[in-house]
Amino acid sequence: MPELPDTMRAVVATAAGGPDVLELREVPRPSPGPGEVLIRVAAAGINPVDLKTRQGAGATRFLGEHPFPWIPGWDLAGTVVEAGWGVARFGVGDRVFGTVGFPHAAGAYAEYAVAHVSQLSRSPANLDDVHTAAMAMGGLTAWQAMADAGGLETNQRVLITAASGGVGHLAVQIAADLGAHVLALCSPDNVDFVRGLGAHEILDRTREDWAAGIDPVDLVLDGHGGPARRAALPLVRPGGTIVTLPSGAENDPAPEGVRDPWVYVAPDGLELQLLTGTVVRGGLRPHVSATFALEDAAQAHELVGGGATRGKVVLTVG
Ligand SMILES: NC(=O)c1ccc[n+]([C@@H]2O[C@H](COP(=O)([O-])OP(=O)(O)OC[C@H]3O[C@@H](n4cnc5c(N)ncnc54)[C@H](OP(=O)(O)O)[C@@H]3O)[C@@H](O)[C@H]2O)c1
Repeated sequence: MPELPDTMRAVVATAAGGPDVLELREVPRPSPGPGEVLIRVAAAGINPVDLKTRQGAGATRFLGEHPFPWIPGWDLAGTVVEAGWGVARFGVGDRVFGTVGFPHAAGAYAEYAVAHVSQLSRSPANLDDVHTAAMAMGGLTAWQAMADAGGLETNQRVLITAASGGVGHLAVQIAADLGAHVLALCSPDNVDFVRGLGAHEILDRTREDWAAGIDPVDLVLDGHGGPARRAALPLVRPGGTIVTLPSGAENDPAPEGVRDPWVYVAPDGLELQLLTGTVVRGGLRPHVSATFALEDAAQAHELVGGGATRGKVVLTVG
């Protein structure tokens, strides 16, 4: 293994602001502490929370007293190049991925990043790093919202809104793989894409009456809030659950008897291993609609900020 450099290229958000605050800089390379590994990052997934935090909201409050300059990114896939004290789970040369450090700073938009082994899984052998990085936070969120908080079971009915997006397109596949009956809400352009993910019923969100005539569902995974949540609320059966991912004052309260848990995604290597197993079995395939080089992170943020991403946008770290 060649000697590791002391510095690395990383995208730095110099201050809270728009995409133009993102700069490619040469910064010190991190070193792994006890229980941690150093990863040569091959790909970093972009999530909406990266943009919200860059703007000074999102997870900024977890970045310390002086949040900026900050290296964004929590989702990564790459190869272990150094193992810290006490690490037995992974060794140098292993391909790993994860949502690391969230909501504290993790610096995935960089050539190297450190992560605790408990927050990583081995990468699926049948998936490249770009697609693997695309499923970390989205897949964890879908799993934690539907299986953990929502208690989704085989043969239950689940409605997934924003079904074509970063979380939604994985949630549709995970729910179908669990044996649930999946109703998916998306725009007309994404109908064929979402049907291909395994959704059983596709609903057109541009129709005002999209919820009319739908039988009750056990669970709603709402990836958008606002009007989509408002229309979905009456569909939840008594005793059922709605999980809404974006927080927002405009969200109506759930009616009496409907559970409305708040979910904040948490890093979890074991749950990622479940996703890895599902990919290996052929039950899950992340979709990447665009890739950008590290130096083009601002363009990538512009695209994700448009709110119309099909699947994921990923940074490749050459
Ligand atoms: N609480 C947590 O722990 C947690 C974790 C992850 C993500 N999140 C949040 O969950 C949300 C979704 O994340 P994501 O990564 O899936 O985002 P995303 O990839 O940006 O989702 C984009 C999708 O949203 C759909 N959409 C756009 N406008 C809509 C509208 N007016 N009504 C319904 N759907 C609309 C679009 O699909 P169509 O045009 O096909 O409808 C688009 O493909 C974000 O706000 C994110 O911050 C929260």
